Amino acid sequence: MDAPKEIFLKDYKLPDYYFDSVDLTFLLGDEKTIVSSKITVFPRVEGSSSPLVLDGADLKLLSVKVNGEELKNGDYHLESRHLTILSPPSGKFTLEIVTEIYPQKNTSLEGLYKSSGNFCTQCEAEGFRKITYYQDRPDIMAKYTVRIEADKSLYPVLLSNGNLLEQGDLEGGKHYVLWEDPFKKPCYLFALVAGQLESRDDMFVTRSGRNVSLRIWTPAQDVPKTAHAMYSLKAAMKWDEDVFGLEYDLDLFNIVAVPDFNMGATENKSLNIFNSKRVLASPETASDADYAAILGVIGHEYFHNWTGNRVTCRDWFQLSLKEGLTVFRDQEFSSDMGSRTVKRISDVSKLRISQFPQDAGPMAHPVRPHSYIKFSSFHEASYLIVHLLGFLSCFSSLQVYEKGAEVVRMYKTLLGSQGFRKGMDLYFKRHDGQAVTCEDFFAAMRDANDADFANFLQWYSQAGTPLVKVTSSYDAEAHTFTLKFSQEVPPMPEQPVKEPMFIPVVLGLLDTSGKDMPLSSVYHDGALKSIASESQPAYSTILRVTKKEEEFVFSDILERPVPSLSWGLALQSVLNRSLDGDLFFLLAHDSDEFNRWEAGQVLARKLMLSLVADFQLGKPLVPNPKFVQGLSSILSDSNLDKGIYCKGNNTTSEVEIMDMMEVADPDLCSCFVRSFIEATCIRTESEFLRRQYGRSPRFTLFVLNVSTS
Ligand code: BES
Ligand code: ZN
Repeated sequence: MDAPKEIFLKDYKLPDYYFDSVDLTFLLGDEKTIVSSKITVFPRVEGSSSPLVLDGADLKLLSVKVNGEELKNGDYHLESRHLTILSPPSGKFTLEIVTEIYPQKNTSLEGLYKSSGNFCTQCEAEGFRKITYYQDRPDIMAKYTVRIEADKSLYPVLLSNGNLLEQGDLEGGKHYVLWEDPFKKPCYLFALVAGQLESRDDMFVTRSGRNVSLRIWTPAQDVPKTAHAMYSLKAAMKWDEDVFGLEYDLDLFNIVAVPDFNMGATENKSLNIFNSKRVLASPETASDADYAAILGVIGHEYFHNWTGNRVTCRDWFQLSLKEGLTVFRDQEFSSDMGSRTVKRISDVSKLRISQFPQDAGPMAHPVRPHSYIKFSSFHEASYLIVHLLGFLSCFSSLQVYEKGAEVVRMYKTLLGSQGFRKGMDLYFKRHDGQAVTCEDFFAAMRDANDADFANFLQWYSQAGTPLVKVTSSYDAEAHTFTLKFSQEVPPMPEQPVKEPMFIPVVLGLLDTSGKDMPLSSVYHDGALKSIASESQPAYSTILRVTKKEEEFVFSDILERPVPSLSWGLALQSVLNRSLDGDLFFLLAHDSDEFNRWEAGQVLARKLMLSLVADFQLGKPLVPNPKFVQGLSSILSDSNLDKGIYCKGNNTTSEVEIMDMMEVADPDLCSCFVRSFIEATCIRTESEFLRRQYGRSPRFTLFVLNVSTS
C-alpha cells in the first residue's frame, strides 16, 4: 500500500510527453465495459525517450500497442496505479491501450459508473484514470473523438463531448454514436452518459449567428421540472456575451441531471452533469432561494466553458484560477439578474460566517495551497476515507472558491469594469487552449492595464484574515481630512510572521446633509496626487492600503466629512473603526446600499455585544434608539429593493456574537438573539407567518412586516 504523500506546488514539472489526439471507443455492457484508446503521443523535447508513465486505477489491462505493435511483458511495467512504457520510440508515436472496467461495481462515483440504471462519468479531478491508462493531469490537453456502442433498448441515449458526427444501428439490437470535440481539453473534462433519458429542447442563437441546440436530459418524469434550468442556461449564455463578449463555441450544449453524484455539478465540455437536486424545481415545492441557486449553479458550470475549459489549470494547486474566477462570474451574473445588493450581502455573510473562522483555524490554507496530502491507496475499504480526506477535499472549497472569488473581485475594484474586461480579453488572447497558473491571470490583468499591483500576489499564498484598524481626524484650519490605516495578519503556526496585504479601499466623503463631496487631491507616501481630473470632479477614489501602517491626507475638505469606506473586498475584519457616530449616519444616508447594510451590521454587532452583558444579568434589553431609527429609515425607504429590507433586518448572527465573546455560550446567544429581535420589534414576514400559522412559508424573500415602536 502506498503511504500518503505530501505533494508540493514548488515541485511541479512539465510532462515529458504531450498527447495530441485521443480516440476512445466504449463497448458498454452490463457485466463489463471495454475501453479502447488510441493516442498520438509526442515528446516535449525532440529526441528524448524517457519512460512514459500513465496513471490508472481499478483497470484490467487487455493490451498495449505502440505504433501498431503489441508490447511484450518486458516492454512495459504494470503496477497497481501506473502503467509505464519503458522505452517509447523517439519522436511522435501512437499508443493503443485496451482495458476492461466494471462500472456497475464502481461505487466511488468517480470514473465511469452506473446511476439509477444509466452510465455516467465523473472525471474531475482524477477520475479519468479509472477509465483508461492516461497521463491524468490537466496540463495534458488533447482533441478527442468518442465512439460509444451499447444496447439500443436499454441505452437509447448515448452522449459525450462535442458535436455528434455519426450514429446508426448495429447487429444484435445495438447502436453506436460518434462524437467529436474540436477543442483541446484535459481529460478531467471528458464525459459520457448513456441510458434512458428524455430531454427538454430549446435553441440559442449566438450573437455571431450560430444556432446552438440546448438539451436538458433527465428521467422522463423530471422533464417538467427543468423549465427554470433552461431559462437559466439561456440567460447565462446571453449574459456572457453581453458582459465578457464570450460566445458558446459548439452547435450543441447538453445538461444531464443524475440522482447519484458526488458534487453539485461539473463543467465537462458541452456535457455538464448535475446532481438532480441542483437543477430540478417545480413551483409547488421550490422556494425563491431554490430558484436563485439553480440560476447560479447553471450559470457557474456554463461559464466554465471559457474560464476552466478553453483556458484550464496547469495543475490542481491552481484550482482557484478557474473556480474563484467562475464563482466571481456566477456572483456577477446573479447580481445582474436580481438584486446586486442582496446578492452581495448573502455572499459577504457567507464569508464572514463560514470562511473567516476557517481561515483563522487549524485547517487554514491560502487560496492556492503550497502542498496537499495525497492518499493513493484506493482500497474498497478506504473509499470513504479517500472521499472525506483525499485529494482535493484537502482543499477547503471556502478558501479556493469564496475567498478566491473575492480576490478576483479585487482586480475589478482596482481596474474598474472596463479595465477588468481588458484583462479578461488579454487572458483569453494569450492563453486560449492552454493550461495556466494564477500568475498568468495576474499578469494578464496587470499588463492589459499597465497596472502596478504591488504585493497583490500575497492573496494567493498567505492564509488568514487581515485585521484592519481605521481612524480619522479633521483639521478645520488646514482643511485636511486624514485617514490612518493599520493592518495585521494574525500569525499561524505554519507561518509565524505574516506580511501586510494589499487592501483596496473605495472611499467617498459625505457632507452633513448626506451628499457626496468632491475630492481634489490626496497626500500619501510622500507625494500629492490629484484625484479629480481637470474636466471632471471626482466623488470617490480607491486607496491602496499595502503597508502595516499608513495614512492618507485629503486636501480642500471644507467641512468635517463622514467617510464612506467601501472595501474593495470582504476579506478583512475591520476593527476599531472609531467612526461610531458616522455609522448611525451611514446607516440612514449612505448612497451605497451595501454600505448601509454594513453600517447596520457593525452597529448591531457592537450593540448586541454590550447588551449580552445586560442580558446575562437578567436586565431588560433596551436597544439604542438611534439604531432602531436607522433601521426604520431603511425600512421606510420605498426606493430600496425589497430584498434589502429582509437582509437589512438580519441582525448579527449567533455565530458572530459568539465569536466576539470571550467565552462562547451558544444557549445564551441563541436566546439573546431572539430576545433582541423581540425588543426591537423587527419582524420579517417569515417570522410573522411562523408565529401566526406555526409554519415557515415557502418563499423566503419578504416584504417586511415591521413595527419599530
Ligand atoms: N468543477 C467543479 C466541481 C469539482 C471541483 C469537481 C473539484 C471535482 C473537484 C464545479 O464547477 C463546481 O464548482 N461545482 C460546485 C457548484 C458550484 C455552483 C460552486 C459543486 O459541485 O458544489
Ligand atoms: Zn466550478
